[in-house]
Amino acid sequence: MTAAPVITVDGPTASGKGTIAQRVADSLRFHYLDSGALYRLVAWRALRDAVGADDADGLAHVATAIKPRFSDGLISMDGADVTDAIRTEEVGQLASKIAVFESVRRALLELQRSRRSPPGLVADGRDMGTVVFPDAQLKVFLTASAFARAERRHNQLIAKGLSANMPTPSQEHVRREIHARDERDAQRTASPLKAAEDAFRIDSSELSVDEVVALVLKWYAQSQEHAAR
Ligand code: C5P
Repeated sequence: MTAAPVITVDGPTASGKGTIAQRVADSLRFHYLDSGALYRLVAWRALRDAVGADDADGLAHVATAIKPRFSDGLISMDGADVTDAIRTEEVGQLASKIAVFESVRRALLELQRSRRSPPGLVADGRDMGTVVFPDAQLKVFLTASAFARAERRHNQLIAKGLSANMPTPSQEHVRREIHARDERDAQRTASPLKAAEDAFRIDSSELSVDEVVALVLKWYAQSQEHAAR
Protein backbone atom coordinates (compact mmCIF):
# COMPACT_ATOMS: atom_id res chain seq x y z
CA MET A 1 0.00 0.00 0.00
CA THR A 2 1.38 3.43 -0.86
CA ALA A 3 1.65 5.94 1.97
CA ALA A 4 -0.81 8.85 2.08
CA PRO A 5 0.48 11.98 0.29
CA VAL A 6 2.14 14.70 2.33
CA ILE A 7 2.62 18.40 1.58
CA THR A 8 5.25 20.08 3.77
CA VAL A 9 5.32 23.81 4.48
CA ASP A 10 8.50 24.92 6.27
CA GLY A 11 9.74 28.39 7.05
CA PRO A 12 10.86 30.84 9.73
CA THR A 13 8.77 32.31 12.54
CA ALA A 14 5.74 34.36 11.45
CA SER A 15 6.23 33.60 7.75
CA GLY A 16 2.52 32.72 7.57
CA LYS A 17 3.10 28.99 7.14
CA GLY A 18 0.46 27.97 9.70
CA THR A 19 -2.30 29.93 7.94
CA ILE A 20 -1.25 28.68 4.51
CA ALA A 21 -0.87 25.05 5.59
CA GLN A 22 -4.26 25.05 7.31
CA ARG A 23 -5.98 26.61 4.29
CA VAL A 24 -4.37 24.12 1.88
CA ALA A 25 -5.41 21.25 4.16
CA ASP A 26 -8.99 22.55 4.25
CA SER A 27 -9.13 22.86 0.45
CA LEU A 28 -7.91 19.32 -0.10
CA ARG A 29 -9.74 17.93 2.95
CA PHE A 30 -6.37 16.68 4.22
CA HIS A 31 -5.31 16.33 7.86
CA TYR A 32 -3.17 19.14 9.25
CA LEU A 33 -0.10 18.89 11.48
CA ASP A 34 1.16 22.01 13.29
CA SER A 35 4.51 20.57 14.41
CA GLY A 36 5.47 23.79 16.20
CA ALA A 37 2.55 23.17 18.56
CA LEU A 38 4.24 19.94 19.70
CA TYR A 39 7.45 21.78 20.64
CA ARG A 40 5.31 24.40 22.36
CA LEU A 41 3.41 21.68 24.28
CA VAL A 42 6.70 20.23 25.53
CA ALA A 43 7.84 23.74 26.56
CA TRP A 44 4.53 24.47 28.30
CA ARG A 45 4.67 21.23 30.26
CA ALA A 46 8.36 21.75 31.12
CA LEU A 47 7.46 25.15 32.55
CA ARG A 48 4.59 23.67 34.51
CA ASP A 49 6.69 20.81 35.90
CA ALA A 50 9.79 22.97 36.45
CA VAL A 51 11.97 20.91 34.08
CA GLY A 52 15.08 23.00 33.28
CA ALA A 53 15.63 24.40 29.76
CA ASP A 54 19.04 22.67 29.67
CA ASP A 55 17.91 19.30 31.08
CA ALA A 56 18.03 17.34 27.81
CA ASP A 57 17.01 14.01 29.39
CA GLY A 58 14.17 15.53 31.41
CA LEU A 59 12.86 17.36 28.35
CA ALA A 60 13.06 14.23 26.19
CA HIS A 61 11.06 12.46 28.87
CA VAL A 62 8.40 15.18 28.72
CA ALA A 63 8.38 14.94 24.90
CA THR A 64 7.78 11.18 25.06
CA ALA A 65 4.97 11.58 27.58
CA ILE A 66 2.81 14.27 25.94
CA LYS A 67 -0.54 13.06 24.62
CA PRO A 68 -2.20 16.07 23.03
CA ARG A 69 -5.63 16.03 21.42
CA PHE A 70 -6.33 18.19 18.38
CA SER A 71 -9.92 18.85 17.50
CA ASP A 72 -11.78 21.68 15.77
CA GLY A 73 -8.78 24.00 16.00
CA LEU A 74 -8.45 23.42 19.77
CA ILE A 75 -5.55 21.69 21.51
CA SER A 76 -6.02 19.97 24.84
CA MET A 77 -3.61 18.09 27.05
CA ASP A 78 -3.92 16.52 30.50
CA GLY A 79 -7.61 17.44 30.46
CA ALA A 80 -6.99 21.19 29.97
CA ASP A 81 -7.57 23.43 26.95
CA VAL A 82 -4.06 24.77 26.20
CA THR A 83 -4.80 26.35 22.81
CA ASP A 84 -3.99 29.90 23.96
CA ALA A 85 -1.56 29.03 26.75
CA ILE A 86 1.01 27.58 24.30
CA ARG A 87 0.92 30.67 22.05
CA THR A 88 2.63 33.07 24.44
CA GLU A 89 6.04 34.50 23.51
CA GLU A 90 7.53 32.91 26.66
CA VAL A 91 6.45 29.44 25.53
CA GLY A 92 7.60 30.15 21.93
CA GLN A 93 11.08 31.18 23.06
CA LEU A 94 11.40 28.16 25.35
CA ALA A 95 10.14 25.89 22.55
CA SER A 96 12.97 27.07 20.31
CA LYS A 97 15.50 26.53 23.14
CA ILE A 98 14.44 22.95 23.78
CA ALA A 99 14.13 22.22 20.04
CA VAL A 100 17.94 22.24 19.81
CA PHE A 101 18.11 18.88 21.62
CA GLU A 102 18.32 15.86 19.32
CA SER A 103 16.74 13.71 22.07
CA VAL A 104 13.66 15.94 22.17
CA ARG A 105 13.36 15.95 18.36
CA ARG A 106 13.69 12.16 18.22
CA ALA A 107 11.02 11.76 20.89
CA LEU A 108 8.56 13.77 18.76
CA LEU A 109 9.31 12.02 15.48
CA GLU A 110 6.82 9.15 15.73
CA LEU A 111 4.04 11.40 17.00
CA GLN A 112 4.51 13.56 13.91
CA ARG A 113 4.71 10.66 11.46
CA SER A 114 1.64 9.02 13.00
CA ARG A 115 -0.45 11.93 11.69
CA ARG A 116 0.08 10.76 8.11
CA SER A 117 -3.11 9.03 7.05
CA PRO A 118 -5.52 9.05 4.08
CA PRO A 119 -6.56 11.12 2.27
CA GLY A 120 -3.34 13.06 3.03
CA LEU A 121 -1.52 15.43 5.36
CA VAL A 122 -0.31 19.01 5.25
CA ALA A 123 2.49 19.49 7.79
CA ASP A 124 4.08 22.80 8.77
CA GLY A 125 7.26 23.48 10.75
CA ARG A 126 11.00 23.85 10.29
CA ASP A 127 12.15 20.35 9.27
CA MET A 128 9.04 18.75 7.76
CA GLY A 129 10.56 18.45 4.27
CA THR A 130 14.14 17.74 5.36
CA VAL A 131 13.75 15.25 8.24
CA VAL A 132 10.22 14.22 9.18
CA PHE A 133 8.70 13.63 5.72
CA PRO A 134 11.64 13.54 3.28
CA ASP A 135 9.45 11.64 0.78
CA ALA A 136 6.71 14.32 0.75
CA GLN A 137 4.92 14.73 -2.56
CA LEU A 138 5.28 18.52 -2.45
CA LYS A 139 7.67 20.60 -0.34
CA VAL A 140 7.22 24.33 0.12
CA PHE A 141 9.60 26.74 1.85
CA LEU A 142 7.81 29.93 2.80
CA THR A 143 9.70 33.09 3.68
CA ALA A 144 8.84 36.76 4.10
CA SER A 145 10.99 39.79 4.85
CA ALA A 146 11.88 40.45 8.50
CA PHE A 147 9.78 43.61 8.30
CA ALA A 148 6.67 41.82 6.94
CA ARG A 149 6.97 39.08 9.56
CA ALA A 150 7.38 41.51 12.47
CA GLU A 151 4.43 43.53 11.22
CA ARG A 152 2.20 40.45 10.91
CA ARG A 153 3.13 39.10 14.33
CA HIS A 154 2.64 42.54 15.88
CA ASN A 155 -0.84 42.81 14.36
CA GLN A 156 -1.71 39.33 15.68
CA LEU A 157 -0.56 40.39 19.17
CA ILE A 158 -2.59 43.60 18.99
CA ALA A 159 -5.69 41.58 18.06
CA LYS A 160 -5.03 39.11 20.87
CA GLY A 161 -4.17 41.83 23.40
CA LEU A 162 -7.36 43.71 22.58
CA SER A 163 -9.49 40.65 23.15
CA ALA A 164 -7.62 39.71 26.35
CA ASN A 165 -7.30 43.34 27.49
CA MET A 166 -3.51 43.00 27.65
CA PRO A 167 -0.76 45.49 26.68
CA THR A 168 0.98 44.85 23.34
CA PRO A 169 4.80 44.86 23.01
CA SER A 170 6.31 47.38 20.55
CA GLN A 171 6.99 46.33 16.96
CA GLU A 172 10.73 46.71 17.65
CA HIS A 173 10.47 44.29 20.59
CA VAL A 174 8.57 41.80 18.39
CA ARG A 175 11.23 42.15 15.67
CA ARG A 176 14.02 41.38 18.16
CA GLU A 177 12.17 38.31 19.53
CA ILE A 178 11.61 36.96 16.02
CA HIS A 179 15.25 37.54 15.13
CA ALA A 180 16.45 35.68 18.26
CA ARG A 181 14.24 32.70 17.43
CA ASP A 182 15.30 32.67 13.73
CA GLU A 183 18.97 32.67 14.70
CA ARG A 184 18.53 29.78 17.14
CA ASP A 185 16.42 27.75 14.69
CA ALA A 186 18.83 28.26 11.78
CA GLN A 187 22.11 27.80 13.70
CA ARG A 188 21.37 24.62 15.67
CA THR A 189 23.02 21.39 14.54
CA ALA A 190 19.94 19.14 15.04
CA SER A 191 17.55 19.60 12.09
CA PRO A 192 18.18 23.31 11.52
CA LEU A 193 15.66 25.48 9.73
CA LYS A 194 16.51 25.16 6.05
CA ALA A 195 14.79 24.54 2.76
CA ALA A 196 14.90 20.99 1.39
CA GLU A 197 16.84 20.86 -1.88
CA ASP A 198 13.68 19.88 -3.74
CA ALA A 199 11.46 22.52 -2.06
CA PHE A 200 9.54 25.21 -3.96
CA ARG A 201 10.35 28.58 -2.40
CA ILE A 202 7.84 31.40 -1.96
CA ASP A 203 8.51 34.87 -0.60
CA SER A 204 5.11 35.92 0.72
CA SER A 205 6.06 39.52 1.67
CA GLU A 206 4.06 40.98 -1.21
CA LEU A 207 1.50 38.21 -1.69
CA SER A 208 -1.93 37.73 -0.15
CA VAL A 209 -2.86 34.50 1.65
CA ASP A 210 -5.19 33.60 -1.26
CA GLU A 211 -2.36 34.02 -3.77
CA VAL A 212 0.02 31.79 -1.81
CA VAL A 213 -2.65 29.13 -1.25
CA ALA A 214 -3.49 29.15 -4.98
CA LEU A 215 0.19 28.66 -5.85
CA VAL A 216 0.59 25.71 -3.47
CA LEU A 217 -2.58 24.06 -4.78
CA LYS A 218 -1.38 24.53 -8.36
CA TRP A 219 2.00 22.95 -7.58
CA TYR A 220 0.28 20.08 -5.80
CA ALA A 221 -1.99 19.42 -8.81
CA GLN A 222 1.09 19.46 -11.05
CA SER A 223 2.93 17.03 -8.77
CA GLN A 224 -0.04 14.67 -8.95
CA GLU A 225 -0.09 14.81 -12.75
CA HIS A 226 3.63 14.14 -12.73
CA ALA A 227 3.20 11.14 -10.38
CA ALA A 228 0.42 9.71 -12.58
CA ARG A 229 2.63 9.71 -15.70
O1 C5P B 1 6.13 27.25 14.57
P1 C5P B 1 6.19 27.73 15.99
O2 C5P B 1 6.66 29.15 16.13
O3 C5P B 1 4.96 27.46 16.75
O4 C5P B 1 7.34 26.81 16.65
C1 C5P B 1 7.87 27.05 17.93
C2 C5P B 1 9.33 26.62 17.96
O5 C5P B 1 9.40 25.19 17.83
C3 C5P B 1 10.19 27.15 16.81
O6 C5P B 1 10.83 28.39 17.11
C4 C5P B 1 11.23 26.07 16.60
O7 C5P B 1 12.36 26.26 17.41
C5 C5P B 1 10.54 24.80 17.07
N1 C5P B 1 10.15 23.94 15.96
C6 C5P B 1 11.11 23.10 15.45
N2 C5P B 1 10.77 22.22 14.44
C7 C5P B 1 9.53 22.20 13.95
C8 C5P B 1 8.55 23.09 14.43
C9 C5P B 1 8.90 23.97 15.44
O8 C5P B 1 12.26 23.11 15.87
N3 C5P B 1 9.24 21.33 12.99
